[in-house]
Order: sequence, then structure tokens, then C-alpha cells
Amino acid sequence: MVKVLFVCLGNICRSPMAEGIFQEIVSQKGYSGHISCDSAATSNYHIGSDPDERAEKTCSLHGFSLNHKGKQLKRAHFDEFDYIIAMDSSNFNNIKALGPIPEGCRVLMMRDFDPEKNSIDVPDPYYGGMSGFEEVYKMLWRSGERFLSFLIKEHQL
Ligand code: 4NP
Repeated sequence: MVKVLFVCLGNICRSPMAEGIFQEIVSQKGYSGHISCDSAATSNYHIGSDPDERAEKTCSLHGFSLNHKGKQLKRAHFDEFDYIIAMDSSNFNNIKALGPIPEGCRVLMMRDFDPEKNSIDVPDPYYGGMSGFEEVYKMLWRSGERFLSFLIKEHQL
């Protein structure tokens, strides 16, 4: 099983959406038996919280629900996950600052997989409205599709 952890600042907007969207893509393409995913925060702001209502609503408008409780990234996750995918460069730096990353764990940026990449960051939609969440949704779907193709090749799935 290839294990993927999506990480953002709060783990209530971008990373639970990335987890839910990627799970949906993986399931639709028939790879659920090979790839699992989860999400976490670099901060401790929303431990135990449900995803933001706007993140839930955006995904439900696209036909699926999110099922996650906020949790904080720990060093132990580096041993548990094969990939840690950061939503933005600040998350990326905070992940790296937790300590040395073991050989078996790769820390990458989500938008490195976005075919329409116009910034390295998935923008934080927390302080905006629903349109920001929809924009993030589309970005995460595009990036997720290409990330899945990358995993299929890399792991010969
Ligand atoms: P996320 O968004 O990192 O995409 O989950 C945020 C959620 C909460 C906060 C910041 C960003 N906050 O400051 O509480």
C-alpha cells in the first residue's frame, strides 16, 4: 500500500479537501487497494475539528462527502507515510523543520503536479468566500489526477 499524507496549516480546508478529492480519484480509477491517504496540519489550531463547512459544501456539491477530524503532523508520520504533500511553501518549510526526513518518505508540493500551475502554492481559502473553495477544488482535482499517474508509474501499480 502506498501511503500519502496531505498537509496544510489548519487541516480544515485544503488538506482534508485534497484527501477527499484524491480518495475519490483513486477510487474512480480503481486503485483503492493500492493507495491510501490521510491529512494533517502543521498547526495545532483545529485538532479534533470537522472540516470547514465551506470545504464540506464544495465537495458535497461535487457529489461526495469529507470524513476527517483535524490532527497535527508529528515526526512519527515520516515513518508511516511514503509521501507527504504540502499545500504551500510555508507548509513545506514547516514540515522540513520538524526534523530529518527518512529515506522512505518524500516531501513534495501539491502544485508541482498541477498542469495549470501558475503559482507554487494552493492558496489558503479560509478568509475568503465559496468561490475560493471552488477554485481550490479544481486545482486539487487537476493536481490529484496527475499525482495518481505519477504514483502508478513510480510504483508500477
Ligand atoms: P487550511 O486553512 O490550512 O487550508 O486548513 C486554514 C484554516 C484555519 C486557519 C488558517 C488556515 N486558522 O488560522 O485558523
